[in-house]
Amino acid sequence: MLYKRTHMCGELRLADEGKKVTLNGWVAKARSLGGLVFVDLRDKTGITQITFNEDVPDEVLEKAKSLRSEYCIGTRGTVKERSSKNPNLATGEIEVFADDIEIYSVSDTPPIYVRDDDNVSDDLRLKYRYLDLRKNKMQRNLSVRHRVVKCARDYFDGQGFTEVETPMLIKPTPEGARDYIVPSRVHNGSFYALPQSPQMFKQLLMVAGTDRYIQIVKCFRDEDLRADRQPEFTQIDLEMSFAGVDDVIEVQEGFLKKVMKEVKGIDVETPFPRLTYAEAMERYGSDKPDTRFGMELKKLNSLFDGCGFEVFTKTLAEGGDIRGICVPGGASEFSRKKIDKLVDEVKHYGAKGLVWIKYDGSGISSSVSKFFSEEELKAVLDAFGAAAGDIVFIVSGTAKVTFDSLGFLRRKVAGLMGLLDDEQFNFLWVVDFPMFEQDEDGNIKAMHHPFTQPKLDELDKLETDMLGLRADAYDIVLNGVELGGGSVRIHDKDLQARMFRALGLTDEECEEKFGFLIEAFRYGAPPHAGLAYGLDRLVMLLLGEKSIREVIAFPKNQNAECPVCEAPAPAGEGQLEELGIELACDAD
Ligand code: AMO
Repeated sequence: MLYKRTHMCGELRLADEGKKVTLNGWVAKARSLGGLVFVDLRDKTGITQITFNEDVPDEVLEKAKSLRSEYCIGTRGTVKERSSKNPNLATGEIEVFADDIEIYSVSDTPPIYVRDDDNVSDDLRLKYRYLDLRKNKMQRNLSVRHRVVKCARDYFDGQGFTEVETPMLIKPTPEGARDYIVPSRVHNGSFYALPQSPQMFKQLLMVAGTDRYIQIVKCFRDEDLRADRQPEFTQIDLEMSFAGVDDVIEVQEGFLKKVMKEVKGIDVETPFPRLTYAEAMERYGSDKPDTRFGMELKKLNSLFDGCGFEVFTKTLAEGGDIRGICVPGGASEFSRKKIDKLVDEVKHYGAKGLVWIKYDGSGISSSVSKFFSEEELKAVLDAFGAAAGDIVFIVSGTAKVTFDSLGFLRRKVAGLMGLLDDEQFNFLWVVDFPMFEQDEDGNIKAMHHPFTQPKLDELDKLETDMLGLRADAYDIVLNGVELGGGSVRIHDKDLQARMFRALGLTDEECEEKFGFLIEAFRYGAPPHAGLAYGLDRLVMLLLGEKSIREVIAFPKNQNAECPVCEAPAPAGEGQLEELGIELACDAD
């Protein structure tokens, strides 16, 4: 028999005392003490204690005694006040005295515990994801994700946005990562790309007169995985016609304000601060600055001009920079051993070393005390306004190396010193990004994507000073994470063609890759602008989680595999034949 439930397991309170209730769920814990059986019954909302005593018929008590973890059951009983209350449980003031039970399914001994505090390996958690997701914390995460999506749909609906689905089998979009490609059976030797984003289609929707578009959409990028990157992830993707930077920002701030209120109960103040890209780099060494703490970067070139330390003088002679940060109260926190670890870490960002100067109030110690007098070191400390107990870290190298190393170090040190408060939400916009950047091989590519509109009053740089050209591009940043990015788009076909030419694409390549977009621009394209949020990242930050895997039901592991269904897997022989594909290597 199936019980129709009256309540969820996280719902009952003292005010419900005396009610006859029916609950369904899973056995989180069962303890049998002679004639008494206590069961913690769990569903997605929480846990209720069910008590079976000798007043119930023998066969009910026997069934209760047979219960084991993760049995799925239904039960009926009366709500009573607990004699020993559990303050850690929302339902901790009551228990349900059962008079009946139905075992819907038994469970083998589960391979992982369904407990929020269980720290089993990620591999096992992902393999048995359906058990992992039974945890209250994971159900809460899914429900917060649902509420964010609902909030987005409601808000943007109210702002005149229409949700439109765009195709999943397309030609490559230039978002900068590798494509996942899908072979065509009908056109042997040809491939679809899975969208890295719906970028070109949402622009076509603007040409189509949709005016304001939204889509909660899966995107696919074959790139190295990190805590905030997955091969398939979800965007809240948006585009607006007849809009510029300020229009987009105003609408988006309204959305983020609503999410914060509805999901976190927090009133965030708008407008959010705006930093130019140049200012963000100079002050924080990052285009996604975390402003929950200070420790801003300082350029120290003039202080070290002509100094006796060859590493610094050589850097300056080569046109490089010397920058540092001051960590308040860090002198005692950072022992030599801890600093050595930091040195190893900043090396990943190109730093050759990390100079430090400690000030303990009476004396100064430093990794470079051999090369500088005490007065010289004091002058550096003074430049930061350092107080007793502070430590200064310095990196020299190209501007990029100093920014990357110190941008990383700033956040790392803040974490080690416990300065990262998950319940503080510092939103900001970074605006005026460079239009282009140079990759490691010296190639110039669009920093956002090539549909981004350069600053129109700087257009002459498109052919003469590409790296100096700025764009009407913006990112929304929350607590040091890039939550979303977007731009005003080029809507003029000639400018778009000029942009592609500047990027070194031949007319034939443009035609082949983006011909359909340029053609559409011949038929009355409206000025338009847009943005896309990483939904997974937004939900992760709202929940104070450290990885987007915690907010995705079935994420990929570090090797881009799905541990549940074990994808990717070799294709069947017949399938490859139909696709006209022969493998050059054995399948992995
Ligand atoms: P962009 O490439 O900046 O812009 O992506 C937008 C946002 O998507 C999120 N994101 C990711 N999240 C998880 N895993 C990934 N691999 C991943 N890659 C990106 C980030 C990022 O800010 N078409 C443009 C948007 C536009 O111009 O309107 C685009 O996709 O939060």
